[in-house]
Amino acid sequence: MRNRTLARGAASVVVIGVDPHGMGLIRECLGTEAVLPSQATPYEDALLAVRKVRPNVVVMGFDNDFARAVQLGPQLSAELPGLHMVAISERTDPERIRAAMRASYREYVVLPEDADLLRKAVHESGSGAEEAHDQGSVVAIISSKGGGGASFLTVNLAAELSATDRVSVIDLDFSMGDIAGFLDLQPQSSIHDLLRNLDRLDERSLAAAVAVHPSKVHVLAQPNQLVDSDDVHGEDILRVLTAASNAYQYVLVDCGGRVDEATLTATSVADTIILVTTPEVVAVRNAWRRIQMLEKLGVEKSNVRLVVNKWGKGSELRLSDIETNLGVTVAATVSADPVACQRAVNQGQLLREVSSRSQTYKDLAAMVDLITERVAQVPASNTRSFFGGLFG
Ligand SMILES: Nc1ncnc2c1ncn2[C@@H]1O[C@H](COP(=O)(O)OP(=O)(O)OP(=O)(O)O)[C@@H](O)[C@H]1O
Ligand SMILES: [Mg+2]
Repeated sequence: MRNRTLARGAASVVVIGVDPHGMGLIRECLGTEAVLPSQATPYEDALLAVRKVRPNVVVMGFDNDFARAVQLGPQLSAELPGLHMVAISERTDPERIRAAMRASYREYVVLPEDADLLRKAVHESGSGAEEAHDQGSVVAIISSKGGGGASFLTVNLAAELSATDRVSVIDLDFSMGDIAGFLDLQPQSSIHDLLRNLDRLDERSLAAAVAVHPSKVHVLAQPNQLVDSDDVHGEDILRVLTAASNAYQYVLVDCGGRVDEATLTATSVADTIILVTTPEVVAVRNAWRRIQMLEKLGVEKSNVRLVVNKWGKGSELRLSDIETNLGVTVAATVSADPVACQRAVNQGQLLREVSSRSQTYKDLAAMVDLITERVAQVPASNTRSFFGGLFG
């Protein structure tokens, strides 16, 4: 998993004692430099939060309770040596600055004036951060169109990888996720149970929450009842992904075509992003939008693998059209085979159980290389704008 945090070399940040206005300023300043919680932790929960999250940086509000903020400084740095602590305030006050420095804060930042200082502090602590050891690889599978095959590719790819590695699949479709159905599993527990008990989240609780498929793929499924995905916060998803990447060599996250806090978080921290499109104008147009989104998130192009699913002779677009218009090389194609794929889905079976000799299965099995080998994806040459190309 990429540095446990958002964006390149970004830091994980805990914000304490800051009101919503201050949070807005911090968010504006840091953008994708850091994983930011949706709201600040109250002073009284600061120690607990640092103990749990083990962040690179703490940003401490100095305006709401100055005495408390000063008091927490030495406590937090004792709890997590090396922690980079930043005091944040709306006014410059030499007395306060000195108090902050004595209390182990390395910077005293007034926003928005000192935005660069905060950015730099967070950036440096992220890039200098200890590499997460033995962490598994997080692979986000995103698609450009509903029904494009993200879930199908996720489960079948996971089954291929599980021949040699410990693999989990996480279903991040909080509205319609049915990874369990694709594998004919009846999970007793779901991702929701983990999210409800985050304070007890560890490898053991994760192991208790997954359903195990005969292929040895572990599935963290969606619950049977619909869940309001507005209640799902990016930082909570990050913690689930961190726990999973500590426990498995590969964590395949089915993000499908949704863009919400959960899928954006997974996409931001993923080591590899598989962008699935079908060879149709509408899907490729959406793929272009997804690529723009990935750029905004700070995802490196070299981590993105463009896969054209449902590929075949009758395809609406040529691969060269797709590459030219997206500016990304097609890393793999998966042949269309509606009958075999539908049968596999309907029966809750893997494609190899239904049709192991099909070209589609061979294509799918070959996709393993996209994850296990770091294939550099050079931008396709002669890139034109999407609209100027296909639709110009
Ligand atoms: N290579 C393929 N050839 C033919 N059909 C395929 C192929 N891959 C997937 N399918 C079919 O496409 C359908 C949709 O696949 P899937 O549910 O995986 O898409 P999705 O992107 O996860 O969709 P959703 O947006 O609903 O999550 C499935 O019924 C499957 O049988
Ligand atoms: Mg799906």
